[in-house]
Amino acid sequence: MPKRIEPVTPYPADYNETAYGIAKEQKEKNIHPPIKNTDISSYDVIFVGTPAWWYTMAPPVMTFLDENNFEGKTIVPFITHGGGGGYTIDKDMAKLAKGAKVLKPIVISGRGGSNTDNDIKEWLKGLSF
Ligand SMILES: Cc1cc2nc3c(=O)[nH]c(=O)nc-3n(C[C@H](O)[C@H](O)[C@H](O)COP(=O)(O)O)c2cc1C
Repeated sequence: MPKRIEPVTPYPADYNETAYGIAKEQKEKNIHPPIKNTDISSYDVIFVGTPAWWYTMAPPVMTFLDENNFEGKTIVPFITHGGGGGYTIDKDMAKLAKGAKVLKPIVISGRGGSNTDNDIKEWLKGLSF
């Protein structure tokens, strides 16, 4: 069942205000902003999605990985980006989600692409839990 990782304080709707303001500051100061509670205790396999923000995952996703207990759980990352790719986001996730097994991510352009649906199907087929 899909659940949102939602920061307590929403980001500004304006892209530049978010990108070059608050999100940049959070990145620089390594701030993990408070999020609305997300209980994952009943899940073993969790698909964790994030946009690439400043070369890594969005800060609320860091909070999510840091404050939940991932012992024995499997994370399947899916990442969107604006041209830079997936960076080392899967490895960054593994550092924060202590005890989790992090599988191969799928990395998708935020603008989509002609083959995206097929890429997702192939990626899902290749996953082994
Ligand atoms: C704060 C912020 C930082 C971003 N940093 C990056 C980046 O480092 N590399 C990149 O390729 N795209 C970057 N982007 C572009 C986003 O990854 C892109 O807009 C997103 O993946 C599109 O998905 P969405 O429509 O769900 O937001 C950034 C966007 C924002 C708002």
